[in-house]
Amino acid sequence: MRRKIIAGNWKMNKTIVEAVALAAAIKREVGQIEHPVMVICPPFTALTEVSMALKDSEIQVGAQNMHQEDSGAFTGEVSAEMVLTSGCSYVILGHSERRTLFSETDQLVNAKTRKALTVGLTPIVCVGESLTQRQAGQMETVIEGQFNGLLDGLSAEEIRRIVIAYEPVWAIGTGQVATPEQAEEVHRFIRGLLARQYDEATASEITILYGGSVKGSNAAGLFAKENIDGALVGGASLKADEFVAIVKAMI
Ligand code: PGA
Repeated sequence: MRRKIIAGNWKMNKTIVEAVALAAAIKREVGQIEHPVMVICPPFTALTEVSMALKDSEIQVGAQNMHQEDSGAFTGEVSAEMVLTSGCSYVILGHSERRTLFSETDQLVNAKTRKALTVGLTPIVCVGESLTQRQAGQMETVIEGQFNGLLDGLSAEEIRRIVIAYEPVWAIGTGQVATPEQAEEVHRFIRGLLARQYDEATASEITILYGGSVKGSNAAGLFAKENIDGALVGGASLKADEFVAIVKAMI
């Protein structure tokens, strides 16, 4: 059985005090219910405090990025070990905002993914096509191309420790969620790619999240699809009740 995961990407929002308050509110809202794996990803500055605020809960903490080198002259960067020792067990890698605003390539995301795995972090690796690419009928080619770069050199054992997030760029922060059918089509395609590159058993074990305008009101339809194993949530993860509504849609 593959892991079901709901992850919240807070992006560049929340001071330390605000982040701790939001984490505490999420913990309170979710209460004692049996829930899927929950991961919240605050900015770097709040990782330690949020991890401490959640230490008596099952909620996991993740970073939104990291550098691929261990240490050195990389002003402004944060290493995998720093992320890990801040209390994180997950790290989002290759988010489309990193790709478009900070020029991250598939090769770079591949290097980061390998580093995250070596320290024991679970990478949530993002892929997805833009609107222009979708309209030009290039969705499959784009996703396959991203995969070839991202997964380069990763063994089946390593790929099993990765979470994949399909995030169509046109759905991120736009309110224009993919329909469950559109998302399922791509998730099935991704699982097929994994089966081809590795094997069926490996492909069937990998968690594939959908991301892009997920809310409490549209989550259940997405989660009903066979190949959608959870969500990577942006805007709606900044409100405790909305985020927990998404979590509950999975139960
Ligand atoms: P959104 O963002 O839920 O605000 O569309 C998703 C993401 O960027 O991961």
